[in-house]
Amino acid sequence: MEKRWWKESVVYQIYPRSFCDSNGDGIGDLNGITSKLDYLKELGVDVIWLSPVYKSPNDDNGYDISDYQDIMDEFGTMEDFDRMLATAHEKGIKIMMDLVVNHTSDEHKWFIESRKSTDNPYRDYYIWRPAKEDGSLPNNWGSCFSGPAWEYDKTTDMYFLHLFSKKQPDLNWDNPVVRQEVFDMMNWWLEKGVDGFRMDVISLISKEQPELPDKEPGINGYATFNVSANGPHVHEYLQEMRQKALNNADTITVGECSGVTLEEAKKYARSDEKELNMVFQFEHMDVDSDEKAGKWTTRKMDLRDLKKILTRWQKGLQDIAWNSLYWENHDQPRSVSRFGNDSDEYREISAKMLATCIHMMQGTPYVYQGEELGMTNCPFNTLENFRDLESINAFHELTEQGKMTEEEMMAAIGYKGRDNARTPMQWDDSANAGFSDASATPWIMVNPNYTKINAKDQISREDSVFKYYQKLIKLRHESDLIVYGTYDLILDDDKDIYAYIRTLGDEKLIVYCNFSENTREVELPEEFTDGKILISNYNDAKVSEKITLRPYEAIVIQK
Ligand code: GLC
Ligand code: CA
Repeated sequence: MEKRWWKESVVYQIYPRSFCDSNGDGIGDLNGITSKLDYLKELGVDVIWLSPVYKSPNDDNGYDISDYQDIMDEFGTMEDFDRMLATAHEKGIKIMMDLVVNHTSDEHKWFIESRKSTDNPYRDYYIWRPAKEDGSLPNNWGSCFSGPAWEYDKTTDMYFLHLFSKKQPDLNWDNPVVRQEVFDMMNWWLEKGVDGFRMDVISLISKEQPELPDKEPGINGYATFNVSANGPHVHEYLQEMRQKALNNADTITVGECSGVTLEEAKKYARSDEKELNMVFQFEHMDVDSDEKAGKWTTRKMDLRDLKKILTRWQKGLQDIAWNSLYWENHDQPRSVSRFGNDSDEYREISAKMLATCIHMMQGTPYVYQGEELGMTNCPFNTLENFRDLESINAFHELTEQGKMTEEEMMAAIGYKGRDNARTPMQWDDSANAGFSDASATPWIMVNPNYTKINAKDQISREDSVFKYYQKLIKLRHESDLIVYGTYDLILDDDKDIYAYIRTLGDEKLIVYCNFSENTREVELPEEFTDGKILISNYNDAKVSEKITLRPYEAIVIQK
């Protein structure tokens, strides 16, 4: 397998709005990030993925961009950006930008022009359709954020397509001029010195045009946004992007690929390097969904399903493409509350277990801000405390349609809502968790557990989650076996334990992760009985023929 720096890296995701507020307006900003680069250096990460910092009216917190070559007012100025980039580079940290080009904001100048008339030069930058002959919507597609994916615009008596909010009209990628605009913009950022792109819902850019056919309806009566996943020209367009932009620098790229299958991922993340370096797949994020309301449930996963999914991806991409490894991002609840155990007794131990499980796999690991502290879901309790349009709209839509009761929906958005990941980063135990001045009002509530869970405490303690992440990252940097070794699942049918072996030439390591509160005994394969412990989340673990795994215990043994 070809060696590459981006395979050997660990990426840290920053959600700028919630990371660090340098000027006391309650909103995180670029100068805040610059002030925390030493913290990230200490953690040991190689690359920062920066959620969008571009000019935006913030209907979807920056994922609705009105100018790709300017900075959001609340976040600072282009000079602040340049200083952040230069400081990061001085410290040896690369910056990966969020590239949101499936759609723009409806306040982008292209869209303002496009909606003016049917012969405006920008008309074909977006996807416009008249009503069907019977006056109904152009098709049955739904928006990811509830309701139909079509918004009527009376100026030209037509509808425009928006797979996300109606303030996020979809770009028409079949128009070569649109593609060139995007590539020019990417080159502009690459010339500035950014190191790559995380590509927002890039699997959705190629629609089945001109038909845009009706599709199977989902729970709320509309077909889900994934109807456009892996469309007819997506690979062609990404290959063009690679040639016209990405190849102009030594870039790191990851495609957020909603609806991606293993077969499709082999093309997106192909090792002949014609498209992207890796993809985010979502199958393991659906492991705890249910039939009734999809993600809106409090159901717990069955570990055997998780093992099946991750193993299929580990084995399936081996030598053909490259995995990205993650439990969390700004669209997911906190992993310790979801897949671990966030009680006082088990929070730290289970957070370390989850980290071990994913960081010992093959692929590039992503750490989401606060995950390295074992930050938990937030007790929002009332709808007023939520900020995210996805949760708020879904609450109204599904309760009004009578699909879910208010109690069920409150529980579901409390458990699965994206705002869980978006509460302010917990830096210390002072007011506002050190995220913002004590007198400020943060844009979203601070999780009240900041007095016990915060970076200051974590850095001061040798046995903290932070120190454990530091160690995992260091191990990866020092070991080709961890980066490049093959993966084989063992104990396939065990419902409590996730165990696997990594192999590179003569080198081997074995990983045991107990996802339960049960104490379990396992037999260590003979070849490991003389091995040494690389890392473990209980400080008295020992190698022996039989290993007793205590609640949420993780242990890695190299032969
Ligand atoms: C992606 C982003 C998400 C955003 C959506 C629309 O899924 O990660 O936060 O709401 O795309 O841009
Ligand atoms: Ca601020």
